[in-house]
Amino acid sequence: MPIIAPSLLSANFLNLQADCDMLNASEADWYHLDVMDGRFVPNISFGPMLVEFFRKATTKVCDVHLMILEPEKYAEQFKNAGADYLTVHMEACTHLHRNMQQIRSLGMKAGVALNPHTPVSTLSDILGDIDMVCLMSVNPGFGGQKFILHTLEKIKQLRAMINEKKAPVLIEIDGGVTLDNAPSILAAGADVLVAGNTVFKSADPIKTIQQLKSL
Ligand code: DX5
Ligand code: ZN
Repeated sequence: MPIIAPSLLSANFLNLQADCDMLNASEADWYHLDVMDGRFVPNISFGPMLVEFFRKATTKVCDVHLMILEPEKYAEQFKNAGADYLTVHMEACTHLHRNMQQIRSLGMKAGVALNPHTPVSTLSDILGDIDMVCLMSVNPGFGGQKFILHTLEKIKQLRAMINEKKAPVLIEIDGGVTLDNAPSILAAGADVLVAGNTVFKSADPIKTIQQLKSL
């Protein structure tokens, strides 16, 4: 069964408690929390302060996706805020191996996110040192964008690399995931589905989460 990680970026920020209550009552596995700095991506969302509120609102895994430059400056703050997974972008890290060591030494799971243009082959020398790869299936910065079809090829390639190395690494897909395309994303080899608009714009979010979970 896939891990379902609704992205709170699409939640109603005027009534987050209601959305947290809904997620807590649902089959969602993780909270996916999108941090944007207005520099790495052309949008600004929220930082550690809000992650801390989400941490208090749930016992589910807090999966923090940093779309920021110099993520090493903030890793400790996100640990203190309650992050379980901390994912940084390969394109934002000159010393990715050091970043992964830092995140793990703080007691979090370490993830690497790749933009749509970054080949999965760039992961070959880091796969043994990470817990998750987040393949962006849209250009990061905004919810509600269309899934980039080429991602399916990247998932298959990455699945083959992970299997060959027998590395315990999860594949997370982020951006434009719907009930229609989720079956082919999972068939290609993904483990974790992030879903923002598909969950929060649904007439019945709990049912939508349950449908994703049962794929
Ligand atoms: C995009 C974020 C995503 C986004 C997904 O930069 O990383 O997590 O919130 O939203 P949907 O599922 O609506 O594409
Ligand atoms: Zn994300």
